[in-house]
Amino acid sequence: MKPYEKLLLENKAWASEKTSREPDYFKRLVDKQTPDFLWIGCADSRVPAEIITNAEPGQIFVHRNIANQIIKTDFNSLSVVQYAVQVLGVRHVVVCGHYNCGGVKAALSRQQPNLSLVNKWLQHIKDVYRLHQHELEALPGLDERANRLVELNVIEQVYNLAHTSIIQKCWRTQHRPTLHGCVYGLDDGVIHELIYLTPDHRIEPIYQCADD
Ligand code: CO
Repeated sequence: MKPYEKLLLENKAWASEKTSREPDYFKRLVDKQTPDFLWIGCADSRVPAEIITNAEPGQIFVHRNIANQIIKTDFNSLSVVQYAVQVLGVRHVVVCGHYNCGGVKAALSRQQPNLSLVNKWLQHIKDVYRLHQHELEALPGLDERANRLVELNVIEQVYNLAHTSIIQKCWRTQHRPTLHGCVYGLDDGVIHELIYLTPDHRIEPIYQCADD
């Protein structure tokens, strides 16, 4: 059987297993979603948000891109954040990176020809490297540097979120969501929290948004 045929067959098996356990499983999900979480993760196939958190459809609103970044000019990730925060009313935003991230490793290396868009996307992580260059270069090996940069990148993305007008307005008016920065271990399957910012977090004046 070809991989794509198997993909569709597995879907049919999954759907019938769900309805055999709970006949209204899909009917229940048709009309609305009320997820508590927005997940911003890496596109890496080994870090599927719902599977590693044992979640069901309807529980997590998901955005994934290479190296779990919130870029302030990227309408894709920002519109996901806006919808999740303003319409769905999520109470938690989880930025989850992972050790051995290929995107972060690539950002630590020279650019590859023919990957012009990926190169541009990863430029932002090179900026995180430069911010923490002394700490990172004091580490003994490339793997240690890459994994510490994974952590620093997650923390940076949490601050990028906190510096959006979307989050600042929601903190002010709704006193939610809490922002969490986490890292996932490919080798043990466990998520560790690195940082969290609550709605009481004080934003540095130069990052306070004047608009709504
Ligand atoms: Co990755």
